[in-house]
Amino acid sequence: MLSKEQNDLLTMTDAGTPCGRLLRSYWQPVATADEMPPGGDPMPVRIMGEDLVLFRDDSDRLGLIGQYCPHRGTDLSYGRVEDGGLRCLYHGWLFDREGNCLDQPAEPEGRKFCDKIHNTAYPVQEKGGAIWAYLGEGEPPLIPDFAFLSGPDENRQAFRVVQMCNWLQGLESSTDPAHTTFLHRRPPGKASERSGADIAAIRGNEPPAIATENTSFGTRIYAVHNAPQGRKYLRVNNYVFPSGATPSTSGGAHAYQGRWYVPIDDHSHCRFEFFYSDKEPLNKERLLKSRAENVGPDSRHLRRPENRYLQDRDALKRGESWGGMGLHFPAQDAFAIETQGPGPIQDRTKEHLGSSDVVIAAVRRALLNAVKQVEEGKEAPGLIRDASQGFYPDFVCTSGYIEDHEDGPSYCRRLLAGKSAAE
Ligand code: FES
Ligand SMILES: [Fe+2]
Repeated sequence: MLSKEQNDLLTMTDAGTPCGRLLRSYWQPVATADEMPPGGDPMPVRIMGEDLVLFRDDSDRLGLIGQYCPHRGTDLSYGRVEDGGLRCLYHGWLFDREGNCLDQPAEPEGRKFCDKIHNTAYPVQEKGGAIWAYLGEGEPPLIPDFAFLSGPDENRQAFRVVQMCNWLQGLESSTDPAHTTFLHRRPPGKASERSGADIAAIRGNEPPAIATENTSFGTRIYAVHNAPQGRKYLRVNNYVFPSGATPSTSGGAHAYQGRWYVPIDDHSHCRFEFFYSDKEPLNKERLLKSRAENVGPDSRHLRRPENRYLQDRDALKRGESWGGMGLHFPAQDAFAIETQGPGPIQDRTKEHLGSSDVVIAAVRRALLNAVKQVEEGKEAPGLIRDASQGFYPDFVCTSGYIEDHEDGPSYCRRLLAGKSAAE
């Protein structure tokens, strides 16, 4: 349970709010690279309550500037890409990707005042199949070199969906190992449409034992399942500062996902998914087919509150799925988080956490501490500023069977010791 003040503190992210300042201290994905290919059209992007337009100029350089023209407010996302920037359709003012006003063609020579005009502009870069933006102050840090962002193209795939609730509900769902046994339960023998894995056969249907540990990048999450044939199955997932998670996908150390939850505003957010496998190329055809079958042209799941998530109660009774909402995990997650109420921001003063919610409590603690740290004028946690420092040395994301005598922490220590010995 959180107090009203704490709930407000973690859910409000507009410019000038404490959590908004924390989230702006890191690069955030704002679009997939597929949405903004070279030569692509400008697109409006709302992020943390700021209305912006993402575009490529006529040299294909990326820009992210204020959506409303500083002249008289017309939407620049309809503008013309030409002459080194984006030109407003109303009176032709031209802005480059740094927000400089390059031209005011309606003003007579000698009366132009371009040098007095500046549009909002943020740095953007492409990495790992997404376009990332830095909305913070000062020198931007680096985007961490996760394998799901820097591996070979054929081993990675990024997606974006829009979810109609506060961002923190999305993040909490991805760090919560307890819900998968219920919300995502499927009959034995049913392979996942996205990973191809039969999860019930791999790790059983019993709730896991859960523990957490603080790390340099956030929080490590251990879930140990009593798997079929008396075996122990470990999942190591992570919360990554400030709005990311890396759930394992029953693919061992070779395959897992990155996820980012980026506020559109306080009532909706984008969920970015970065699929990754280092063992073999991803089956992109299967992933794209599953996306096409489950997500509409508005980037929202086809199952949504307006159609009561197309719940089929007969299918529920027949045992075809746990909730009668099909077998697509992200749509099931969207149902769970979009209906947490009342309204688009869950009222956490009214909840009752149990021992299986230990991760939820740990992630909130980490976030509250991080917000406080930034409010006190200190650097946000987990920022990487020096490329030679490399990646987080204590990062592990894996899943698999472990020996009876082993637990999550001892398994990870052994893995990390092996890694540093090999370096
Ligand atoms: S409103 Fe954009 S140029 Fe006038
Ligand atoms: Fe889930």
